[in-house]
Amino acid sequence: MRTIAIVNQKGGCGKTTTVVNLAGSLAADGARVLVIDMDPQAHATLALGIDPEMTEANLYEVLADEDGRALVNEILVEVDPRIEVAPSGIVLSALEQKLAAEQAEARTERLVGALGQLARPYDFALIDCPPNVGLLTFNALRAAQEVIVPLEASHFAIHGVQKLLETIALLTERLGHDLDVRILPTLYDGRTRFARETLAEIRGLFGDMCFDAVIRQNVKLREAARRGVPVVSYAPSANGTADYGALAFEVAAASAAELTPTLQVVGDAEEIEPRRVVVSFRDPGAQDVRIAGDFNGWIPDKDVQSEVSSDGSTRVWRKILCLSPGTYHYRYVVDGRWREDPDNPRVETGPVGERNSVLVVQ
Ligand SMILES: Nc1ncnc2c1ncn2[C@@H]1O[C@H](COP(=O)(O)OP(=O)(O)O)[C@@H](O)[C@H]1O
Ligand SMILES: [Mg+2]
Repeated sequence: MRTIAIVNQKGGCGKTTTVVNLAGSLAADGARVLVIDMDPQAHATLALGIDPEMTEANLYEVLADEDGRALVNEILVEVDPRIEVAPSGIVLSALEQKLAAEQAEARTERLVGALGQLARPYDFALIDCPPNVGLLTFNALRAAQEVIVPLEASHFAIHGVQKLLETIALLTERLGHDLDVRILPTLYDGRTRFARETLAEIRGLFGDMCFDAVIRQNVKLREAARRGVPVVSYAPSANGTADYGALAFEVAAASAAELTPTLQVVGDAEEIEPRRVVVSFRDPGAQDVRIAGDFNGWIPDKDVQSEVSSDGSTRVWRKILCLSPGTYHYRYVVDGRWREDPDNPRVETGPVGERNSVLVVQ
């Protein structure tokens, strides 16, 4: 299970909207998703059609005492065949006080303990956080391997985010585990120059930490929340559905990259040398994808055989290289723009500061 906390101490930047609609889009693609509502305001609970006043128990019961973790399966509410919710309630705001006397370490491990008790398997757990970095957010970060920070692209919210990233970095040291942190531009209004400039600034500052997906302002997202369903079920052709679909694709692509390594070596090592090496690049929007590296003198697609196929709405480029054993560096040229391989975690910084993907042929 990939546990992703959606964090930003600023209210109104799209945390809850992201949790609910990313859950909807991942589920629409076939994933099983658990939504964990750690905000006492219970907005995610409400936006998934549950009245927090009507639930018999919520996360407070699970987190408030040592033995509560076992209750986690009893509080879950199914809102869709592939989405379950661990609901919140206003009482959750009393948790900090309730646990004040406890040792700091134990206090922040309540949620991770509860998730360890889950009876059913999920592909993703998405944690909605309150608009502050207190005990509830610490619990979320302790339980997560990944963090998404929604960042409103229509206001100058960047300073606050840098503070938040510092806090997360400090926390990562204390937690003793790495968090993969990514920035999601939200509430984007491409009609204003100010928003376009802010988005460019966000991309310039955060580079690869930024998702390619951008969430545009879209009234259907508000309407869907009021109806208590993810936008994908309420307005399948809305911009909000397309944007959260693109985000889900990027989020899911990270698991695909882990599960199916991009580098497959074809052929028998004993007999064939050099070897055929296949790297693939997936993108729904790209028109032209080439590869360049030290194996072809950095000339895009020189000495490379290309194949294009499609996987649903996504096009897949396969680049077939003929390489002797050794270590190689490469980049893709996507519609004229150079970029590293998004599916290859091995990256090295080159002589002029560019980031090259690394490929080892054994
Ligand atoms: N992309 C968007 N387009 C239009 N309205 C949005 C969008 N994202 C969020 N909203 C609305 O803005 C308000 C704040 O968003 P929300 O997700 O609740 O933020 P947070 O959880 O960070 O406080 C909500 O009313 C929500 O419906
Ligand atoms: Mg919220």
